[in-house]
Amino acid sequence: MELKHLFSPKKIGNVEIKNRIIRSATWTGTATADGYVTDKLINFYNKLAEGGTGLIISGYIGIEPAGAATPYMACWFDDSYTSGQKKLVKSVHDHSDVKIAAQIAHTGNNLMKLEYEPVGPSAVWNRRVKKDCRELTFAEIEKIAKRFVDVGCKAYESGYDMVQIHGAHQYLLSDFISPVGNKRTDDYGGSTEKRCKILVDIYNQIRDSVGKDFPIFIKLNTRDYCEGGLTLEEAKNIAKILIDTGYDAIEPSSGIVDFKFTERKTYAAVMFKTEEEGNYFIPNVNALKPVMKDRPIILMGGVRNPITADRMIKDDIIDFIALSRPLIREPGLPNRWVSGDQTPAHCINCNGCMGASMKGGTYCVQLEKLEKEQ
Ligand SMILES: Cc1cc2nc3c(=O)[nH]c(=O)nc-3n(C[C@H](O)[C@H](O)[C@H](O)COP(=O)(O)O)c2cc1C
Ligand code: SF4
Repeated sequence: MELKHLFSPKKIGNVEIKNRIIRSATWTGTATADGYVTDKLINFYNKLAEGGTGLIISGYIGIEPAGAATPYMACWFDDSYTSGQKKLVKSVHDHSDVKIAAQIAHTGNNLMKLEYEPVGPSAVWNRRVKKDCRELTFAEIEKIAKRFVDVGCKAYESGYDMVQIHGAHQYLLSDFISPVGNKRTDDYGGSTEKRCKILVDIYNQIRDSVGKDFPIFIKLNTRDYCEGGLTLEEAKNIAKILIDTGYDAIEPSSGIVDFKFTERKTYAAVMFKTEEEGNYFIPNVNALKPVMKDRPIILMGGVRNPITADRMIKDDIIDFIALSRPLIREPGLPNRWVSGDQTPAHCINCNGCMGASMKGGTYCVQLEKLEKEQ
């Protein structure tokens, strides 16, 4: 089996990607405490670029201090961050034909650094600080949307090939689309259209500034897994609004982090044991596919088997796959597959790498264990 579909080029917007393998955004915990790019962060990306991935989506980049509430995540609060970001992009482009997207985010109510005040579209419970978050004012929402626009434009000016808006995982923008996170009665809440307003405004304002050739796409929560939360059916309507607005691709994700309400699949990085439990966002992809028009849909979540992925691309079920944990363990995984070893990714989905991100930079703890045993 030659994986000819997985290793065929395809465009997102007007930008061609050499194969269908995307590195899904991954916070590596290798920026400085203030969010500046480090050589360690750049080396991480260079390894991915050398390993054959077609498009690298950066780890989430915080757009303002209260929206960057994860330790050692990259930030872009002002122009002092731009030279480091430019260096990172240049390094990936100098070393490879790989494309790179900036994922831009506001961590909202799902924060880890507790010195910041959790905020959201509405005052909803925050399990970490054990009280409701603060509801944003109308003016604050407009200011945050403007920060997304400014950072999206900075990413364009700094050489990034595209920008991904983080609209998932109970961070701020996914709380806006969620009926449990957003109970506002002004222009930003209520109907599905109103809950999408911030996403539509951000897209339109970035597009007005950067022109038509810079893809703007989104990682989108498509189910909340809790009572009264976002359903797949409503997510399909949201995707239609976003595609009609112009978004160039969608990477469906799912889940919120409040374990009090959630069922099993609470978060994008599901810990699973058998191959049958992989590709766990296929129902979400299937739900959104009919409204995608000609825009690519990206399958993320437990994608491990290249032969299955190749077949799903051939059958027009998906356009790209996106991988996070497998590329922490094996940054050279696409090269391994294309060179003939098509066994599934070696990652065993234990999430040990997530804890490692907190403590000086992510790595595969299982691989470390194996190396120690040898
Ligand atoms: C260490 C780690 C960091 C992550 N950081 C981000 C991030 O910055 N932005 C994001 O959207 N998702 C993030 N995720 C979620 C992944 O992008 C991905 O959606 C999830 O891990 C499922 O894909 P996988 O099964 O290929 O790992 C992270 C996951 C891990 C394990
Ligand atoms: S620690 Fe290694 S095996 Fe475990 S999820 Fe992370 S990359 Fe996969």
